[in-house]
Amino acid sequence: CNTAPRRAWTDLVRDVPDFPKPGIRFKDITPALADPQGLAQVVEALIAPWHGAGVQAVVGIEARGFILGAAMAQALGAGFVAMRKPGKLPARTLSQSYGLEYGKDCLEVHEDALPAGTRVVIVDDVLATGGTLGAALALCARLRLDVQGIGVLIELEALAGRARLPAQVRIETALRV
Ligand code: PRP
Repeated sequence: CNTAPRRAWTDLVRDVPDFPKPGIRFKDITPALADPQGLAQVVEALIAPWHGAGVQAVVGIEARGFILGAAMAQALGAGFVAMRKPGKLPARTLSQSYGLEYGKDCLEVHEDALPAGTRVVIVDDVLATGGTLGAALALCARLRLDVQGIGVLIELEALAGRARLPAQVRIETALRV
């Protein structure tokens, strides 16, 4: 029998110690994305919860949320909107600062990115402390978007980010570690 076992995308995620700072154990998804089956599995895992949710746009967070979000958007027949680090977007923006697992940062979105009421899903690669996704939710609220939920590839449960996000927000995680 030639049914070679399919390698799961979760086996292609590697831990990189002391990145980007000493003491941080970084979840590196690049090997999973580099593998054709891995990438397909990642996208399938991310879109599965949102079939039938009428998602009109996926909001992806810089930087890995761009890769995941654009692939999700195409698979869902939705558009894509980028939430970026400061100074990267060309037109007028809204800004939201937040605390990070390893520092402070700020997210921006074009103030005319989507019409109010657009049904969106927010996506990022990792949910750690929840600061980033909290800022993304705040920006979506300021744009008066209809947030269906959050899609995350990896949730770092020890950092309890989920508990820092509003309880009524649906959070779908492909892998919890
Ligand atoms: C990482 C990750 C998430 C965020 C999660 O991004 O991609 O966006 O941290 O952390 P939090 O839940 O504690 O907010 P990072 O800020 O390292 O930026 P990058 O994607 O540009 O590398």
